[in-house]
Amino acid sequence: MYSRIGGMALKKVNIGLLGLGNIGTGTYKALEMNKGLIAKNAGAELEITRILEKDVDRERGIYVDPAKFTQNPEDIFSDPEISIVIELLGGIEPATSFMLSALNAGKHVVTANKAALAENYEVLTEAAAKNGVSIKFEASVGGGIPLIEAITSSLTANEFTEVLGILNGTTNYILTKMSTDNASYETALKEAQAQGFAEADPTADVEGHDVANKLSILLSLVFGERVKPDAIPTTGITGVTKEQIEEAKAQGCVLKLIASAFKDSEGLHYFIQPTMLNQDHPLAGVNNEFNAIFIKGNAVGDIMLYGKGAGPLPTASAVLGDVISIAKRSL
Ligand code: HSE
Repeated sequence: MYSRIGGMALKKVNIGLLGLGNIGTGTYKALEMNKGLIAKNAGAELEITRILEKDVDRERGIYVDPAKFTQNPEDIFSDPEISIVIELLGGIEPATSFMLSALNAGKHVVTANKAALAENYEVLTEAAAKNGVSIKFEASVGGGIPLIEAITSSLTANEFTEVLGILNGTTNYILTKMSTDNASYETALKEAQAQGFAEADPTADVEGHDVANKLSILLSLVFGERVKPDAIPTTGITGVTKEQIEEAKAQGCVLKLIASAFKDSEGLHYFIQPTMLNQDHPLAGVNNEFNAIFIKGNAVGDIMLYGKGAGPLPTASAVLGDVISIAKRSL
């Protein structure tokens, strides 16, 4: 299908969106906000034409034509005009089954869903390959930071030996507020929830499960090893006390929830735990909802990628980057 923008003939790419929650709303908003430049960069006019969402009436601060809503996912998978499906439901199921249905219907899939990817990485990537379509997931690790593109493209000339990451915005926000504003754990968590950083059930954030999902994806991409999230030794931040935070400060350190993986002669090691970092460590200054990943490559040396790891618009930036890349290269 073709339309015109600014006198230039553009193809039209229709998108089906699964889920209009915080990130879905941010994605819809960012697509409207930057419509012209996105069309230029994609070489196509992108439109979300159908949305799978039960909660039609929620106040979202955006206008969505009610005719776009459906409660039947088949309306999206069987729509021949839709070529890309964005999955932003979260959770392992039904998200995985829906992504498989979309891939098997010959549609490209873009997702931010770290839980579904960490659990079903092979099944999803194999279904994409079998159907000759893409599954892209830049937003699943590090929110708006283009770290997956860097690891799978720009840095592929390297053998990696170590990865350290601050990979959860909610817990980093809580630890920062407890450390710098003397906030209580509960107040800081409520603020993180209000700003749309936290998972629907914030237990996944504070117990470290969300980081385990993200580290599992990184282990596949960085070291080519599949490790399911529940096989990663994980300690979250629920046991962190104000006294520990003060003690870290007294020693010239900061306490951060760190995901670590490194290779030595005995193999690959990985774990997630609250960790004292010296103030001069590159990750020590990563605060609030910001995330960062610090990688050692045998050619590039030390490299750190930094940006907003959570929140509707930063995450939308990564989601739409994937959509634009598909529209430009594959449609
Ligand atoms: N709940 C997640 C976080 C969202 O706080 O980092 C982004 O993955």
